[in-house]
Amino acid sequence: MHPYRTDIGILQVDIHAPWGGVVPKLAQEAHEAAMDSTVEQALQQAGVRPSDLEAVAVTVGPGLSLCLKVGVQKARQLAAEHGLKYVAVHHMEAHALVARASAPVAFPFLCLLVSGGHNLLVIAHGVGRYSLLGSTLDDAVGEAYDKVARLLGLELRPSGGAAVETLAAEGDDQRFKFSMPLRMRPNCNFSYAGLKTAVRLAIEAEAPGPATDANRQVRADIAASFQRVALTHLEERTRRAAAWALEAEPSICHIVVAGGVAANKLLRSKLQGVAKGIGLELVSPPPQLCTDNGVMVAWAGAERLALGLWEHLPASAADDAWV
Ligand code: KG4
Ligand code: ZN
Repeated sequence: MHPYRTDIGILQVDIHAPWGGVVPKLAQEAHEAAMDSTVEQALQQAGVRPSDLEAVAVTVGPGLSLCLKVGVQKARQLAAEHGLKYVAVHHMEAHALVARASAPVAFPFLCLLVSGGHNLLVIAHGVGRYSLLGSTLDDAVGEAYDKVARLLGLELRPSGGAAVETLAAEGDDQRFKFSMPLRMRPNCNFSYAGLKTAVRLAIEAEAPGPATDANRQVRADIAASFQRVALTHLEERTRRAAAWALEAEPSICHIVVAGGVAANKLLRSKLQGVAKGIGLELVSPPPQLCTDNGVMVAWAGAERLALGLWEHLPASAADDAWV
């Protein structure tokens, strides 16, 4: 019997929690254990058989290759067995494009992508056509949220970022004056390593040891002060990027914010202000489509399919190794 449940709904966070971070081999095993039944249940819920489908879309990267491989092999097997078109999807493009599922966002648009592994400002000119305006010099903002959640002794459920956002709501965001990253660099890049260290030092000085009721207020103040700086950094860079983007592409009407951190309410309201100030409209997918999900991959796959950006796989591809 496999050590992991295979039904939809298992949280890998429980598998990795004892190790203090994602263990690639355990993540791969959990993906393998869940793959077949997850696909079966999705098909059942949609009321279709694989042979009713036209195409199968799958994330090919970036990410942990051991886990990506599990999905790619399943998708290639489905495509080869049932004669489906095979659509390879980039994880961050899926985050960006799913905004077009819930609102009429035309190309070109400015896009802020904020997740656990990426921090990007891009102009999206079309499917597969992006100009990079800025990226992180070290950590992504989601990674900083996750680290701060661990330092504050929070349960990483549903995610470190969500836990910090909840605690921050009880705190004074002015109590700790953490410095704003890259203040003297008038560009669109990001940095979170220094802020992470400043938060660690504040916790060691003001709330050392385990999280308790007695130190809850100071931890909430640290969370709120961290969040103010982390999100103001995103806000300032996005304001600059919007000015740059409008110079390059005056027909831009929308700023899209997507990726797991885009579920954050304070970020959404700050960016609303940026967009309004420059005469643009902010679009962000509903929170459940901001954090990783299958819908965004299916949507990006459908967009690529419509443009003919798919592959036909030979029947032998069912047994292919990692490509
Ligand atoms: O896109 P995503 O689901 O997975 C990756 O591609 O990385 O993003 C996950 C990141 C995590 O770092 C998580 O802590 C963060 O998004 N996150 C949030 C919130 N919800 C998820 N960060 C801040 N506030 C939130 N409400
Ligand atoms: Zn993601």
